[in-house]
Amino acid sequence: MDTALYRIANSYDHWLQRRYVKGKLATDPAYAATAALVKDRPMPLLDIGCGIGLLGQYLHACGAVTRYLGVDSDIRKIDAGNRALQLAGLDGALRLIHADGIARQAMSGHVALLDVLHYLPQEGQRSLLANAVAHLAPGGLLVIRTVLRERSWRYGLTRVSEFFLRASGWMRTGAQHYPSADELCAPLEAAGLVVEVRPLHGKTPFDCYLLVARRERRAAPE
Ligand SMILES: C[S@@+](CC[C@H](N)C(=O)[O-])C[C@H]1O[C@@H](n2cnc3c(N)ncnc32)[C@H](O)[C@@H]1O
Repeated sequence: MDTALYRIANSYDHWLQRRYVKGKLATDPAYAATAALVKDRPMPLLDIGCGIGLLGQYLHACGAVTRYLGVDSDIRKIDAGNRALQLAGLDGALRLIHADGIARQAMSGHVALLDVLHYLPQEGQRSLLANAVAHLAPGGLLVIRTVLRERSWRYGLTRVSEFFLRASGWMRTGAQHYPSADELCAPLEAAGLVVEVRPLHGKTPFDCYLLVARRERRAAPE
């Protein structure tokens, strides 16, 4: 896998991005956690707020995805991600498009929302969640990685780092609203999904949780 991660990093054409990707893949457990969840449940995956398309490349390297569509509202990231897909020869297998996360896509399967929600205001988070749920197939998983509002040093540090991400220009919009676990679980459970939440800090000092919401397969009629 190390060689594959190295190859992913080297597909990005800017040295700063290559450096960022190497660090991110080495320390961030979100991609491996998503791969482990979807690997044995083959179906298309919609990645909302895909950034430069790292999750798609990671899932492809693990053989964990049949069809992948990444959407992001930041055209610079989509362009960088598409250049990397071309360089890696993956532009036929994986797709990245410039679109808002609330736009409906002609796809149903799993949905990933990694580190996206807190960049939207509370109402925007509700709409994004509703759109994510609308793309879930029976047996599909909604995999959310997010900061959760809580009293902890990790939460404090995450808020400080978000300030610098915004100030550096890497994120066009700064954090808008840090959701609580209840705020996210309630609408998902109301939509009939089975929800589990667990910490996913990995080797990072940040406040990270993995929330997995499953749409049950319909019971066979008797
Ligand atoms: C911290 S990045 C995470 C990127 C990617 N999910 C990952 O984990 O590698 C958050 C991304 O969400 C995107 N984003 C924020 N609001 C969005 C929206 N309403 N629709 C689509 N993308 C959005 C940003 O442009 C940014 O690329």
